[in-house]
Amino acid sequence: MIFTCQPGFTDLLAGELSAHGFAPVEQGAGWVRTEPGKRVGDNALHPLPDLCFPQMALLEPVEIAADSVNALAAKITEQFLTTAKTERFEGEWPFLFEEAAEMDGLGRRVKGVEKMVEENLKKRMSRVAKLAVADKPRGVARLRGLYVFFVDFKRAYVAREAVFGGQRRMADDEQAPSRSYLKIEEAYIVLGREPAFEETVVDLGAAPGGWSYSASKRGAKIVAVDNGPLKGGAYNNYKIEHRMEDAFTFRPAPDQVFDWMFCDLVEEPHHVMENLIQPWLERGWCRRFVVILKFGRVDPLALLRDVRAPESVFSRCATNVRVRHLYHDREEFTIVGELK
Ligand SMILES: C[S@@+](CC[C@H](N)C(=O)[O-])C[C@H]1O[C@@H](n2cnc3c(N)ncnc32)[C@H](O)[C@@H]1O
Repeated sequence: MIFTCQPGFTDLLAGELSAHGFAPVEQGAGWVRTEPGKRVGDNALHPLPDLCFPQMALLEPVEIAADSVNALAAKITEQFLTTAKTERFEGEWPFLFEEAAEMDGLGRRVKGVEKMVEENLKKRMSRVAKLAVADKPRGVARLRGLYVFFVDFKRAYVAREAVFGGQRRMADDEQAPSRSYLKIEEAYIVLGREPAFEETVVDLGAAPGGWSYSASKRGAKIVAVDNGPLKGGAYNNYKIEHRMEDAFTFRPAPDQVFDWMFCDLVEEPHHVMENLIQPWLERGWCRRFVVILKFGRVDPLALLRDVRAPESVFSRCATNVRVRHLYHDREEFTIVGELK
């Protein structure tokens, strides 16, 4: 399989894969290839485990190599036509070309191959070609399509099936007071749900207010807990009540259950898990959550194991838990889930 991730986090991706029994055989900036057949049964009946670092996993990729754009496009087209012969295309399907990061000029070359494959398909299967969408699906998904990943100028992997972790680049909003805004927007996609009109949100460590602002745009009512000031679209926002309190000691009113708990503190992650997340989840003070844990000063893979351990507060109290290294995350994990 080929797994892709944020460039700069490839070693962590390889480490996570090894921990799950996938043996890495090759890697470059933002991708890891694992040995075929090392794990048996990774098919639709036995899906991949829910992984944190991969943004996309190409299943059973076939290697193709050629010198020119024309020859690469011809081989990819052939591979698609051969495998699609008996397939029915009823709706839109993903047509995705990506490449290893940090290789000067590779992106331009890949665009050239992509255009040529598109033209080839229009000639050979015009109805099917019209249904192709050159974008990742929204959310966590396993889909058939055409996936091509270039590891260098002359070599690519072609797959017909891929698994997506839900990460994607989000659009900014000029009123958003921080880049964190992009993370919460992306987290909704991973969870498959976003705050609805009049739902209640507690935002622990809210300033300058990117997450609160994002929830306010959807009409939710937010309690933003932070000693720091709110800014931009979060400042003087009638949907947001700013409470200058300590996130670790802030408590809901008796019998109050927030629809959402957001937590984005620059603090030691175990301290956050034990002294903040644990009381909120164990006592059922919220229905669902988006939490960031910073891994800059700890061993990220050990933290990941702690989060996923059966005795962790997330495993014990929550369901639909997804731990992700988001497209917009830096040295941090985003964890989303719902209370059991
Ligand atoms: C990364 S920022 C949060 C960014 C925010 N999610 C946004 O979208 O703008 C972390 C915030 O946590 C706050 N913070 C750290 N420790 C806190 C505590 N014990 N109680 C309340 N806020 C705290 C800091 O003041 C800082 O504003």
